[in-house]
Amino acid sequence: MMSGLPLALRILLLFLLHMMMMISATTVKLRPGFYSQTCPGAESVVREVIKKSMKKDPRNAASVMRLQFHDCFVNGCDASLLLDDTPTMLGEKLSLSNINSLRSYEVIDEIKEELEKLCRGIVSCADIIIMASRDAVVLSGGPNWEVKLGRKDSLTASQEDSNKIMPSPRFTAIAQIELFSQFNLSVKDLVALSGSHSIGKARCFSIVFRLYNQSGTGKPDPAMEPKFREKLDKLCPLGGDGNVTGDLDATPRIFDNQYFKDLVSGRGFLNSDQTLYSSNERTRKYVQYFSSDQRAFFKAFVEGMVKMGDLQSGRPGEIRRNCRVSNNSTYGNLDGVLR
Ligand code: HEM
Ligand SMILES: *[C@@H]1O[C@H](CO)[C@@H](O)[C@H](O)[C@H]1NC(C)=O
Ligand SMILES: *[C@@H]1O[C@H](CO)[C@@H](O)[C@H](O)[C@H]1NC(C)=O
Ligand SMILES: *[C@@H]1O[C@H](CO)[C@@H](O)[C@H](O)[C@H]1NC(C)=O
Ligand SMILES: *[C@@H]1O[C@H](CO)[C@@H](O)[C@H](O)[C@H]1NC(C)=O
Ligand SMILES: *[C@@H]1O[C@H](CO)[C@@H](O)[C@H](O)[C@H]1NC(C)=O
Repeated sequence: MMSGLPLALRILLLFLLHMMMMISATTVKLRPGFYSQTCPGAESVVREVIKKSMKKDPRNAASVMRLQFHDCFVNGCDASLLLDDTPTMLGEKLSLSNINSLRSYEVIDEIKEELEKLCRGIVSCADIIIMASRDAVVLSGGPNWEVKLGRKDSLTASQEDSNKIMPSPRFTAIAQIELFSQFNLSVKDLVALSGSHSIGKARCFSIVFRLYNQSGTGKPDPAMEPKFREKLDKLCPLGGDGNVTGDLDATPRIFDNQYFKDLVSGRGFLNSDQTLYSSNERTRKYVQYFSSDQRAFFKAFVEGMVKMGDLQSGRPGEIRRNCRVSNNSTYGNLDGVLR
C-alpha cells in the first residue's frame, strides 16, 4: 500500500504509526457499558451505596462529586487522588486545595468493598469515582447520563502536581478560563462545570479574604450583595474558626440552576464563583444563560463532565484491590481490608 510512496515519506509514515501505537498502548479506549459482561451489577451497586451515603449525610453527594474534578485534573482520571501517603510518596490528599477540604473517601471505600465482593479485581477505582459522581448528581435532582468506563488506576500520585494544578478560591474568571483551556475545556464547559457548586459547602477559610481584604485592598469584595455579605460576615468573622462551613448556593442539596441565579444577584459564596459573573464578559454570558435556562445548564454540565472524564495521563495502570494503595505497594494493607 505504501510502495508507491517515496522512501522518506514511507519512513515518516511508519514513524508516525509507531508513535500512535506507543500512545495507544497506555491510553485506554473508554466506552459505555464496559462492565456489562464482566460485572453487570457494578453500576447499580454504586448507585445504591451513594443513595445510602446521602441518607446518612446529604453532603456526601457534593463531596463525592467533587472528587472527580480533583482526580481528573491531576494526571487524568486515574484515582491517583485516592492513594494514601507512603513513606516514599506524598499523595494528593494533603495538597493545598485538598487538605481539610476533600471528604467522603470512605464512601468510595465502601463501594469498592461491595464491588470486590461482587466481582473481584474487575472494577477500577477511577471508574468508581466517575460512576459515583454521576449518581450523586442524579440523586440530587440533576441530569442523568451514560458514563464511559474502562479506566485503569494509577500506580502513583503527586502532591506536587496537585499543588501546581488545582485552583484556589481566589482565582479570577480569566485564571479559570486559562486553567480549563489547558484541558481543552471551553469557557462554556468552565461555567457549566462550576455549576457543580449548586450542591455542597465550603469553609470560611476559603472566603475570609474576600470578606475583609479582597485583593489586598483591606475592603470586602464589592461584587457581594450587601445583605448577603452581612450574613457571611456573621458566619465567618475575622479571626474566627476557618473550618466553619456555609452553603455554596441557596439550595445546597438540590442540583439545579439556583447557583447561577445567586451569582446574578451577587450571592455567590466563593470569589471564584462570583467573579464568573462580575469580572468577565465571556463567563457572564453563560452565567446569565444558565440562570434562565436550567435545561441548557444540565446539557452543558453533562458535556463538561464527559469531557473531563476523558482526561487520561497515558501512564500504565492497574485495577487496585484497595483504592488507597497500589497493588504492588509494600505499604498499607494489601488484603483489601479497609482502614
Ligand atoms: C476553577 C474552578 C473551581 C474552583 C476555584 C473551585 C473551588 C472550590 C472550593 C474553594 C471549594 C470549597 C473548599 C473548602 O472550602 O473546603 C469547592 C467546593 C466544591 N467544589 Fe469546586 N471549584 C472549582 C470547580 C469545580 C468543579 C469543576 C467541580 C465538579 C465538577 C467542583 C465541585 C465542587 C463541589 C461539589 C464542592 C462542595 C464539596 C463539599 O460540600 O464537600 N468544583 N470548590
Ligand atoms: C492488581 O490487582 C488486581 C486484582 O487482584 C489484578 O487484576 C491486577 O493485575 C493487579 N495489578 C498489578 C499491577 O499487579
Ligand atoms: C487538547 O487538544 C490538543 C489538540 O487537539 C491535543 O494535542 C492535546 O493533547 C489536548 N490536551 C488535552 C489535555 O487533552
Ligand atoms: C491585606 O492584604 C495585603 C496584601 O496581601 C496585605 O499586605 C495586608 O496586610 C492585608 N491586610 C490585612 C488587614 O490583613
Ligand atoms: C481545621 O481543622 C483541622 C483538623 O481538625 C486543623 O488541622 C486545621 O488547622 C483547621 N483549619 C482551619 C483553617 O482552621
Ligand atoms: C513492584 O515493586 C517492586 C519493588 O519496589 C519493583 O521492583 C517491581 O518492579 C514492581 N512491579 C510492578 C509490576 O510495578
